[in-house]
Order: sequence, then structure tokens, then C-alpha cells
Amino acid sequence: MITYNERERIFKLDTPDTTYMIGIVDEENFIGHIYYGKRLKEAEASYLMRTQEPPFVPSTNNRERCSFYDCFPFEYPTSGVGDYREGCIGIRTAAGHVGSMLSYVSHEILEGKPELEGLPATFGSEQDCMTLKLICEDRHVGMQVELLYTVFHDTDVITRSAKVTNTGREYFYLTKICSACIDMDNRDFDMISLHGSWARERHIQRKALGYGIQSVSSCRGESSHQDHPFLALADKHATQENGEIYAMNFVYSGNFRAQAEVTQFDSVRMTMGIHPENFCWKLECGESFQAPEAVMVYTDKGFDAMTQTFHRLYRKHLIRGEYKDKKRPILINNWEATYFDFNTDKLLSIAREASKLGIEMLVMDDGWFGNRSSDNCALGDWKVNENKINGGLKYLVDEVNKLGMKFGIWFEPEMISPDSDLYRAHPDWAFAIPGRPGTESRQQFVLDLSRQEIVDYIYEQVASVLRSANIEYVKWDMNRQLTDIGSCGLPADRQGELYHRYVLAVYQMQDRLTREFPHLLLENCSGGGARFDPGMLYYSPQIWCSDDTDAIERLEIQEGTALIYPLSTIGAHVSDCPNHTVGRVTPFETRGIVALAGTFGYELDVTKIPVEDREMIPAQVAMYHKYNDLIREGDYYRIASYAQNRKYDCWQVVSGDKKQALVTFVQVMNRANFKSRRILLKGLDGEKRYRVEFVNDDSVEDQIYSGDTLMKAGLLVPNPWGDFKARLISLTEA
Ligand code: DGJ
Repeated sequence: MITYNERERIFKLDTPDTTYMIGIVDEENFIGHIYYGKRLKEAEASYLMRTQEPPFVPSTNNRERCSFYDCFPFEYPTSGVGDYREGCIGIRTAAGHVGSMLSYVSHEILEGKPELEGLPATFGSEQDCMTLKLICEDRHVGMQVELLYTVFHDTDVITRSAKVTNTGREYFYLTKICSACIDMDNRDFDMISLHGSWARERHIQRKALGYGIQSVSSCRGESSHQDHPFLALADKHATQENGEIYAMNFVYSGNFRAQAEVTQFDSVRMTMGIHPENFCWKLECGESFQAPEAVMVYTDKGFDAMTQTFHRLYRKHLIRGEYKDKKRPILINNWEATYFDFNTDKLLSIAREASKLGIEMLVMDDGWFGNRSSDNCALGDWKVNENKINGGLKYLVDEVNKLGMKFGIWFEPEMISPDSDLYRAHPDWAFAIPGRPGTESRQQFVLDLSRQEIVDYIYEQVASVLRSANIEYVKWDMNRQLTDIGSCGLPADRQGELYHRYVLAVYQMQDRLTREFPHLLLENCSGGGARFDPGMLYYSPQIWCSDDTDAIERLEIQEGTALIYPLSTIGAHVSDCPNHTVGRVTPFETRGIVALAGTFGYELDVTKIPVEDREMIPAQVAMYHKYNDLIREGDYYRIASYAQNRKYDCWQVVSGDKKQALVTFVQVMNRANFKSRRILLKGLDGEKRYRVEFVNDDSVEDQIYSGDTLMKAGLLVPNPWGDFKARLISLTEA
């Protein structure tokens, strides 16, 4: 619900349990942030903006205008005229000047949610949500800013974005733009972010917020393995179950910066936006720039509640397409099975064995095109290599289909190898700074997707392969980050637009792909999980989470990923041991149980793994079919974190009607002479009784306990014998 109290000049935005309030003050119509937190009854509390305290508003005390600018809680702060905190927007006029200040002009309140042109965003019908369009301007510059706020009626989420229009008589450059900002009082917050590296993505980091600026960011051209477009400020005592949290997540897949600045007056300004480094967008008269969407979640009920809110929003209002609410086919991918060493026969032998075990789709990974026999060459030459795929692609796909399996294929459309026919024909198609040798990474360059003719060419190459056979899945990979950002397609003063234009082009290609092939299951990927973000989720309902498939490493990676993203989105496979990334040997059973908390699939040569492992696959497949609806749609709770306790990991999913739950327990290292571990279950119905079944431990008999007991007194999990042992515990209403 969104209302405007005209007398008080207050906008009140309500979700089921939260309120956000914006105030207009003074005759100059400054827009201030009043409040974000637990739901309030009245549109009041404008005193929180402290305009009755010195330095007062400029109409009362113009002598201290600068002091006012530097402490007022601006809803969408600017810079250069007296607010010395980091602003949300930066401009440089044709004359080279940088100052700006925004004041309220008008507003509209709409049912539903407008789309953001060219960008992924959450969506909702007129019944689902309401939007406030707040128009403000800087008359000196000739700039209008439209701030969009959408509240969802079924989830405690507010989404935000900003659109800047040049309403003046001369061009200006947009040098910075944030999508969301909250200027609020500091409350001894901790800052929570997701940090990582290749094969170690999204580890949760929590630290105290101090004075000054703290940020997480990426300037790598993608959201990245290293940092993640997510930031939460949490009460320092916040736990899984209790405490206030303010979280922001960015629906964007390129350079970003999420920042918190604690000021001299103990206020904190939290922002999310495109990273300003190397960003400079020229706006001619009448032109607009649409910033991506930021998602804001507030809760006073701890991290489980925050997580569940993001999960619900993304499941219902972000993910689209045929597989939105559907079980995904269990796939077998040949990457770790064969790397580049495969041909039709090899793939068919894997498929034959896999189909007998209940696996539903074969995915042919990197190496099927051009002369690609290693990762040194051929990106861009999207023609089937019939020396390897003897008989042709259609033959292979048909043969796989005859086994009752679907077929999927790998592409890396954004890249070009210097050793490729494409590069030899079009050396200017890669990003490059004239005169400077390009920086190779994995011996490849990045295509200049700011040029529409290149986008069209690559799209056609990819689409014609897909049109040539019954291909039902695509893994869209991206194996390097951006460098040498220069395009011969744009003039000098538009080179600062390249990073963003690149991301828009990727979105455009995926939009075309999902429209032309509406039944296709798309899985995004970037050297593992470097582009696991809400922007990509808008196009693909699942994303490859990490190249690290070791079940124990995955505990930390999947915990961090699931902090925001539903389990249904997390690409997770059972691979062979010793694990190819860390060399660890874990039980096949554990690998299966950990992968079950994701999309589930295999990444191994099923014709070569030990017989005992192969024999376990049909039972794992059956478990997937039995529990996937619950895992995909249930509410996720974190019970214990191996990342924190270094002993064991435990999580739970509970169905919406609370009739069913599934607990996963992984004991990492066994220790001598220990009793069973007591775990407190969550989210059950205290009035219901549950049959508790240890699915993979026959030594424990089924028991019936009340939800109340299981949540308050807990459940005992016997100490498994050996390291890296997992237990799956199923609860059904008795
Ligand atoms: C990186 C991906 O994460 C892997 O799964 C695999 O597809 C390779 N790229 C192929 O080059």
C-alpha cells in the first residue's frame, strides 16, 4: 500500500510488516528519508529528519545551508554543493561543472509495476504490487530524476530504481548513478557481505561497521566471484532467528558498488548502484538513462526471515519461463568426465549408461565446435566439429532422445579466441584500446558487444545451432572478466558507456534467446559462479554455482548463495573423487545429499566410476524426485553453519503447509567419544505431530514427535562413523 499525506507531505509505503517513509521539507522541496523499519500505523514522524534542530532548513537559516546539506537524511543525495557524504548521482555539464541538488516536483501512485527498459527486474501484477513514481529535478542542470519504489503486497520487499533525463538545453555526462539509498541513524551495525574467489564463491563475511566508508564492489565487468552485489546491515546481536537487518541486492550483472558510510553524526548512508569507476554516460537533450533495480528487504526477525523473503520474491516475481515452478531434468554433464577429449561415441556411451540409471538429460560441455581441442582456441567459431561429433549434431541429439533423454549444449557467446576464424576475419571485434596489446585471459578476448552487428552475428550463430536439432538446454558460460575496454564503434566521449552497454547487450541476447526458444532451459555460468546474480536469474531459472564440486567446499559456497537465492536456482552436481579441485575423497552418498540442495545432476563419467557408486545413482534419482518439490518451494532455514563452527552443517526446508520438512545434516570431521548431536528444528507447526525418518540411516527407527518438542527440545542425530558423512532426515505430518 502506498499513500501520500498531503498535509504532512509524507509518502508512506507499506509491505505486510514494514513501512518506508519519505518526507518533503521546506519551501525548496528537499526530499528526505524519514523511516524504514517495522510497520507503522500513521504517516508521521517527520521529526526524524531533525529539521527542527540546528542547522535547520535553509529557509530558516540560510547562513548554514552547507551544514544542512551535510546532515539532512536525503532520499536521493547529490554532491558538489555541500553534502560531503557520497552522493547517489554524479554529473558533469558541458561546461565541466559537477554540482547538483534535487527537489521534489510531482508524483504518481500506480497499481502494478512498470518494466525497466532493456533491464531485468522483478515483476508483479496490479494485484501484486503498487508503485510510487517520485519526480524530482535540478533546474540549474536541466535534469529530471524519476525515483521508482514498488511495494509488494505478499512479501516484505521494496524495489527501487532511478531514471535520469536531460531536460536542459545542453548535453551533460552522468558520471555516477545509484539505484537505492537509505540515510538512517546508525545502530551499532554489523556489515554482512559475500566474498570469494574462483571455486570459493560467496562465503559469508560479517564484521563491525566503523566510521567512514566501507564498500563491496566489482569493476570486473561482471558481478564476479570476488564480491557480490549484496550488502546487509544487521544489528550486531542479530541471529538466524532474531534481530533487525537491512539488506540490498542488485538486479544487475555488471560493475557494482554496495556501500555504507558512517558519518560524523552517527548516521549511516547505505547505497547500491553501478560502480562509478570507468562509468560516464553522455545524455543529449531529451535522452534518459535507466538505472538497474535494487531490492531492499527489512526484517526484525533475523537472517532466516531475510533469506525467506528474498527466496519468495525471486521464486515468484523474478524467475520466469517454463521451468519457473517446475522440477528440472536431472542432467549429466561431460565436463569433469572428459574435458575436451570426447566424440559422439564417448558421449553416447555416457548417455546409454546414464539413461539406465534414471538420468534425464545429457549436456555436452565445452569443446564441440571449431577446432577447439583445448581452451586455447576457437571461441567464436560456433560450427559443430564433425571430426568429434561424427555423424553431426542432429544425429547425436536424436540418438540421445531415443534413449528417452533430453540434450543440452554449452556456449560461451561473449568471447573470441585470438586463434579463431572469427578473430582472423574480424580482429576489431574484440574490445581493445588502440595501440595497446590486449590482455589475454584463458587465452581469449571479450567481444565488443556494444556493437549491434556483433551481437546480431553471434546471436544468429548460437540460434542456428539450436535450430538444427532438438536441443532443450543451454549452459551459457563466460570464462574471463573484462579488460581493455575500448570500442571502435563509439566516439571518444562515449567510451565510458562500454561496461554498461556490454551488460545491456548480454541481456538483449538472452532476452532474444528465451523468446525464440521459450521451452529452453537456460543455465547461466561464469567460470563457475561469477555471474550468480538476480539479473541473470531473470533469464535463467538456475545458475552454475561454482566449479568447485567438492561436497565439503560446497557447504560454505551453497550456504552463502542460499542466503539470498532459492535452492532451486543453485546449480549443483555430484562429481567423481578425488575431487578435481581439492583432491578430497568424500562418500558418494554425501555428494548426492549436498547436490540435492540445488538443481541436482552429475558431472562424471558414469561408465568409469566405481560400481558401488554407480549402483547408488537410481536411489539418488528417486530421492530427487521424492523431495525436489519440497526443496524447490519450501521455506529454507539455517540450523548450523560449518563455516562458523568448523564441525558440522545443517539446514532444513519446510513446506508452506508445514506438513513436510527435510533436514540435511553433514558432519564434516568425526571426533572420538562424542554423543549424538542435538539440533533444534525450525518452522514446524507446534500443534502438529511428525513422523521423523532418518532416510539414509537404518540404525535409527522412525519416531513420532510433536513439532513443539522438535523445535524447543530438539532432535538427536547419532554421531555418524567416519568423516564427511551426511544424514537426510524427513519429517511428515503423522
Ligand atoms: C567453466 C564452467 O564453470 C565449467 O563448468 C565448464 O563449462 C568450463 N567453463 C568449460 O570451459
